[in-house]
Amino acid sequence: AKVHHHTWDIAYHYKSLDCVEKLAVTINGESPGPTIHATQGDTIVVTVHNKLETENTGIHWHGIRQIGSPWADGTVGVTQCPILPGDTFTYRFVVDRPGTYFYHAHYGMQRVAGLDGMLVVSAPDGVAEPFTYDEERTILLMDWWHKSVYEQAVGLASDPLKFVGEPQSLLINGRGVFEPFHCSRAPQRQQRRCLQRPRSAGCAPPPLFTAVPGKTYRLRVGSLTSLSALNFAIEGHSMTPLHLLRRVLLGPGQGRPEPVPELLGRLPRRGRERNTTSAMAILSYAGNDPRAPPPTPRPEGPAWDDVTARVEQSRSLAVAHPDHVLPVPPRPDRALLLLNTQNRIGGHTKWAINGVSLAFPATPYLVSMKRGLQGAYDARPPPETYDFRSYDIERPPPANGTVASAVYRLALGSVVDLVLQNTVALNKKSETHPWHLHGHDFWVLAYGDGKFDPERDTARFNLRDPVMKNTVALHPKGWTAVRFVADNPGVWLFHCHIEAHVYMGMAVVFEEGVDKVGRLPKSIMGCGRSRTLP
Ligand code: C2O
Ligand code: CU
Repeated sequence: AKVHHHTWDIAYHYKSLDCVEKLAVTINGESPGPTIHATQGDTIVVTVHNKLETENTGIHWHGIRQIGSPWADGTVGVTQCPILPGDTFTYRFVVDRPGTYFYHAHYGMQRVAGLDGMLVVSAPDGVAEPFTYDEERTILLMDWWHKSVYEQAVGLASDPLKFVGEPQSLLINGRGVFEPFHCSRAPQRQQRRCLQRPRSAGCAPPPLFTAVPGKTYRLRVGSLTSLSALNFAIEGHSMTPLHLLRRVLLGPGQGRPEPVPELLGRLPRRGRERNTTSAMAILSYAGNDPRAPPPTPRPEGPAWDDVTARVEQSRSLAVAHPDHVLPVPPRPDRALLLLNTQNRIGGHTKWAINGVSLAFPATPYLVSMKRGLQGAYDARPPPETYDFRSYDIERPPPANGTVASAVYRLALGSVVDLVLQNTVALNKKSETHPWHLHGHDFWVLAYGDGKFDPERDTARFNLRDPVMKNTVALHPKGWTAVRFVADNPGVWLFHCHIEAHVYMGMAVVFEEGVDKVGRLPKSIMGCGRSRTLP
């Protein structure tokens, strides 16, 4: 196995990712950052220099379970102190499974400023994958705002709340075109001129993928969006999903490999508002004029507010190669029923789970729990359930919640069921929340409409061929059930991957076997009560 060393300077730079100049948080001057390539079993070492001057940072390796290295998870407030301006921090971890992963900032809302990238882990030489292809490409999707992280974060914490609003642009591999310059809605005849306009405005043309006719391409698609759920389609071509997916809808935080015969991408947005933008990349066959407009009509995809299509897609996922996945344990040792509500708490709009909105403590949980620091977080455990018999999910919560840094403590090795229950927000609308679990994969057992009833719905769980994921959609006014084994000593965040939502407290924390965690590196300490530790 190899060791891959990377040295990253994290700094603000002026960028024109969507043809509008704006400060972005960059890695060695780039946003998105470089794609990390490794082979299963390799070690990745990333030395991060925080050159942001006035902003902390921390980087999370999304989908990597960090077995034996929970301190490298990069979750500021959970597994480490923030990396301060001027400081250096080294992440070192093993990539134990092949797959398509990504990384992103996990401090405040910093991810929206562009600190992200892909992490590709290949199967070892000689190990056959259950599919074949000639070449592969990575496709990283982002949504992009012209407001700074600070304006967005302060707006969310303000009374009244100023929501971040719809993104100005969508980016494919860090490139997009702001709506006033946007081509994808231009009539077919004007496409060529439109495509050339951004170039003359001194900004990059749409990303170009060249393909050789007859070859098979594997696409590794990662959605690093902060808010938007995207459709991904290739005009005039069909995709054969790998592993899991039939069609492709990617919520924030979801990434899975799809192989494809050939490609050209366009992304109609959906899920939040009608009036949203789309993004486009160009597929050109080798030998053709790469600036020629696409000859085929644009795929329309489901309407922006078509929830049924989304739910159906979630439900249609099935394991393609059952012998390649772990069998699901037949029953849980513990089940948590987690109601997602939007609450007014202390004059602020928050998201809460069973009435508790998560606030990160000054001392990272991993340090305070492993070292037994009393009073560093709220010791009273959060509620395991809510009053599902009488609760009305068609109305905003009747009671206010609390803000706390409470933790669910799980028995090491136990089987845990999590049932996420959606409801309406204060505006009486219900939206999709992509929930992501750190440190584990889970089996997706069921999606349901309306209110989950343990007696009736547990019988509907798919224990035969459930897919394993680390991010799952909680659909509007519905519920989602997942199961995982708490077998990874450490402290792990479980949260909505919408950047604004986790910032408003839409998260819970799990601890398991923290006493089995090895000696903590001194480098994760230095804040809160960990400042004075030997
Ligand atoms: Cu990609 Cu805690 O998230
Ligand atoms: Cu959410």
